[in-house]
Amino acid sequence: MPEVPVSVQRAIKELKGQDSDPLCAYVYDLPELRHRAQGIVECLPPGCEMFYAAKANPALPVLGALAPFVHGFEVASGGELDWVRRHFPDTPVIFGGPGKLASDLEKAIDQNVELIHVESLLELQRLCDIAGRRQVHQDILLRINLELADTPSTRLTMGGVPTPFGMEEACIPDALALLGRQDRVRLRGFHFHLMSHQLDEKRHLGLIRHYLETVRAWESRYDLTITEINVGGGIGINYTRPDQQFDWSGFCSGLDELLQVYSGRAWKIRFECGRFITAPCGFYVGEVLDVKRCGEEWFAICRGGTHHFRTPAAQAHDHPFDILPTHDREAAAPVVANHSVTLVGQLCTPKDVFARRVDVESLGVGDLVVFRYAGAYAWNISHQAFLMHPHPKEHFIE
Ligand SMILES: Cc1ncc(COP(=O)(O)O)c(C=O)c1O
Repeated sequence: MPEVPVSVQRAIKELKGQDSDPLCAYVYDLPELRHRAQGIVECLPPGCEMFYAAKANPALPVLGALAPFVHGFEVASGGELDWVRRHFPDTPVIFGGPGKLASDLEKAIDQNVELIHVESLLELQRLCDIAGRRQVHQDILLRINLELADTPSTRLTMGGVPTPFGMEEACIPDALALLGRQDRVRLRGFHFHLMSHQLDEKRHLGLIRHYLETVRAWESRYDLTITEINVGGGIGINYTRPDQQFDWSGFCSGLDELLQVYSGRAWKIRFECGRFITAPCGFYVGEVLDVKRCGEEWFAICRGGTHHFRTPAAQAHDHPFDILPTHDREAAAPVVANHSVTLVGQLCTPKDVFARRVDVESLGVGDLVVFRYAGAYAWNISHQAFLMHPHPKEHFIE
């Protein structure tokens, strides 16, 4: 039985009926996205906020669906800042990411960014110079790459080991000295985003406890009064075991206790999640164009490819999918039955693979393969110009 929601199946059928060419499309389930975002935010303990990391999927209908539920948007480039501000002039925005241009910092001040997450001492110096010259105030967090005794064991590590993200702990005294020499840029707290793809809520709670203890120690060591800690995003989606997802409500209960014990709720705790919020609302559909056998292996070539949907190639995983069978198979076209099959796209590279050697009951030409969890880091991270294939259709269920 396919796990594709009925509303998505209906939309796919309509899209299929619009064109005589085989189908390739992204379908986004916005009612489900709203429901999910609301549930995620409502679960948060008091004193916590959820910002959406626009980089996961900055499509306008997606941002529009999320805006009423999340506390704001996190942007990571001047481009994202312009995009979000142009369409959501009143939504709170925070601005992180490495390699900000001086013009990005100017823009952040002009466009009323609530907090800039400063990534290095040089960036801090530039921001202080700009704010001083323009005689304006700007609040910041310092993004710190914390040393961890126990390195997080996820597949995408942004901290705890040497990385270009944030500044090392040893920079804090210099950053505070720099801040002390001026009064335009104000420190509100610290930012940590040490990993992505976190699937284990207990490990994540352990990491957040470490942040809280560390900030408490810094407050007394450096005589600081901190009002805010950004604990980043990084909550994962279990692509290989979709039935075992991160337990958000269990995590939030644990966080509630943690905040009571370790922070006394003295600080605002902010999340900036992307993948966990939008991945489940997106579906990438490719119609099977050809099925062939080579030695002991079967291959199904789908309309589209990793130039539209880079997620499986980027994560080196077999992407979960469902099959919507066609009712009018070409009589002469081959079918793979009760065998494993490798699903590929139309690109002339062996890397254009969605899933390898996955058992199917029956897959034939004209069937629609629907990849779930395609709503984050999918279309927008893909090398869309490669081979000049047309773009997929895009449909947002309202
Ligand atoms: C600083 C920062 N914050 C938030 C995110 C969002 O991460 P995710 O989509 O895994 O929640 C990222 C992703 O790379 C990031 O680098």
